Amino acid sequence: MKNDLLLRVCRRQPVERTPVWIMRQAGRYLPEYRQVRDKSDFLTMCRTPEIATEITLQPIDIIGVDAAIIFSDILVIPEAMGLPLRFSEGTGPILDKPLRNEKDFDELLPVNVEEDLGFVLEALRMTRRELQDRVPLIGFAGAPWTLAAYMVEGGGSRNFIEIKKLLYARPDLLKGLLARLADAVADYLCAQIKAGAQVVQIFDSWAGMLTPPQFREFALPYLKQIVKKVTGTGAPVIVFARDAGHSFAELSEIGADVLGVSWTEDLAVARKAVGDKVVLQGNLDPCALFAPVDRLKNEVEEVLAKAGQEPAHIFNLGHGILPPTPVAHTQAMVDFVRELSPAFHQKKEE
Ligand code: CP3
Repeated sequence: MKNDLLLRVCRRQPVERTPVWIMRQAGRYLPEYRQVRDKSDFLTMCRTPEIATEITLQPIDIIGVDAAIIFSDILVIPEAMGLPLRFSEGTGPILDKPLRNEKDFDELLPVNVEEDLGFVLEALRMTRRELQDRVPLIGFAGAPWTLAAYMVEGGGSRNFIEIKKLLYARPDLLKGLLARLADAVADYLCAQIKAGAQVVQIFDSWAGMLTPPQFREFALPYLKQIVKKVTGTGAPVIVFARDAGHSFAELSEIGADVLGVSWTEDLAVARKAVGDKVVLQGNLDPCALFAPVDRLKNEVEEVLAKAGQEPAHIFNLGHGILPPTPVAHTQAMVDFVRELSPAFHQKKEE
């Protein structure tokens, strides 16, 4: 492995600088992505391993990040369970048959990872071959709570009223769904690791919609169940529970190697809450990439300073990169991490 910084940090081994990658790094802010996208729709791109591989590699070559993340989507699991998925320009993902009554839940299909999601596994194998160990490859899946939210709402939502109604009226039904999703996600991530993913990340993007007690009841146990099964493979696991900073201490106990920190949370506060149990990942404000470059440099340095001197930090944004982000600033951010982070690691050795 030519650049194994990410793997070394996940294993708490010494590194000479902080590794950096970007959530949603394979996407619309890159003109090279838009060029491919102009000729094909998003789901076809996900289902075509050659295209998924090409898109996965783009940010490695163009931005110089220290890891690749496989090009796919978290919603391939609900689709495999029988909910047709489409993406509409501007409004995002739409599931046309949202789960609304008990019958809808009963009709969900079991997921057979090899059969239903073989295209992702093939993309991972192909990407590993193309990468030739230049950087590690990250696999991913959505967390049960976030997937359930999309499945019940039928898409994205501002207030998540439908899934909250279900949570209050039929917690039993919701928990049945969460348990099924946890099984499917764990199988899926284990299969991704077998196909070549060297690290996996679980995205709980809507964790922040839950009250702290709800998070502990409807999200945390299912994350724990997945992590337990997946860490059995030996591959490091990153859990990104967006805006669930209230439960960092609890999250640090579920067996994950790395916890993602969103930009609404403070890295130093997160470190206090988790002690030295886990590596932290994050958390530059995605909009800092729109700042003047000298200001961006200050913001990068501030994240590195907050992460502290222990080499247990993976630089990332606090959520996904936004489509209008200037590519030059994204490259500058990566360069600043390369330039500024060695000082933080040297201090530790002195
Ligand atoms: O990180 C990466 O670059 C890997 C690829 C990746 C995509 N989606 C590609 C994508 C990853 C890791 C995801 C995860 C994902 N998908 C999440 C969790 C991460 C997060 O941001 O919270 C969520 C909530 C989804 C569901 C989803 N898929 C949304 C909300 C959208 C955006 C819709 C829109 O139009 O803004 C997508 C579509 C999507 N997923 C795109 C990409 C590159 C854009 C598709 C296009 O080209 O139109």
